[in-house]
Amino acid sequence: MNLKAPEYVAGHGLIKGKTVLITAAAGAGIGFSAAVRAAEEGARAIVLSDIHPGRLDAAVAKLKEDSGLQEVYGKVGNVAVEDDVQALVDFAEQQVDGVDILINNAGLGTSRALIEMEDDEWHKVIDVTLNGTMRMTRYMMKVMKARGQGGVIVNNASVLGWRAQKEQAHYAAAKAGVMALTRCAALEAAEFDVRINAVSPSIVLHPMLRKSASEELLQELESKEAYGRAAEAWEVANVMMFLASDYSSYMTGEIVSCSSQRA
Ligand SMILES: NC(=O)c1ccc[n+]([C@@H]2O[C@H](COP(=O)([O-])OP(=O)(O)OC[C@H]3O[C@@H](n4cnc5c(N)ncnc54)[C@H](O)[C@@H]3O)[C@@H](O)[C@H]2O)c1
Repeated sequence: MNLKAPEYVAGHGLIKGKTVLITAAAGAGIGFSAAVRAAEEGARAIVLSDIHPGRLDAAVAKLKEDSGLQEVYGKVGNVAVEDDVQALVDFAEQQVDGVDILINNAGLGTSRALIEMEDDEWHKVIDVTLNGTMRMTRYMMKVMKARGQGGVIVNNASVLGWRAQKEQAHYAAAKAGVMALTRCAALEAAEFDVRINAVSPSIVLHPMLRKSASEELLQELESKEAYGRAAEAWEVANVMMFLASDYSSYMTGEIVSCSSQRA
């Protein structure tokens, strides 16, 4: 079976007038798609961040041009570095006069059998994927609490936080950690009206991923999906917009699968 993606769904003003900060937003995948959707869903201002300066400048220019939104800003930052995280959140707060929605998209993976994995590779994947999400969440929670106007955080997990896959022990452990972090932080953040949820995608085959994985593996992953295809990045971004919007006002600490084959 190969169930094709529907026509691109038009925006419905889900986050009208809101301000948004997105990490890892200058790639070819979910992060930039989330930025495009945020503009289409009525965001008032969007701050894009990424570790790659050249791609970030291009992403800011493209989003501005395609969406017509004037308030699009870029800030280079590595989520694995606490100083970068604080500088990014402070920059965004100042530029857009308070961040309403944070999308923690940054995550890093490699493929390696566990018995061949060196500590460095393990730590790098955990540090960007899990610790980076924790750092962004921790600082944003502090800032949102101090501002006293609530807010929303959407984390990007992965079905590998639930499922097993060879050569993915480090990434799967990190994503399971993102899920646990989401649930626990959400309990604390509820006290100051901040909701925290996560989307858990299965597979999005954008050009950068196609370059880094074998065709055989990608086909195997697609064949595991009931729809017989990978998700489009915008299909995952749609779930993020739902979680970022008041349509999910009675949801916090939830992990929402964006996959055609759950766990
Ligand atoms: N693509 C998939 O199939 C898939 C499936 C499940 C989960 N995810 C998760 O979705 C998220 C987005 O992945 P994507 O594949 O859609 O790519 P993406 O385009 O959204 O993100 C890639 C970008 O991340 C940036 N980046 C890398 N390390 C960074 C760091 N330390 N700090 C800041 N930016 C950094 C890169 O420069 C690149 O521009 C990740 O968390 C990933 O684990 C992806």
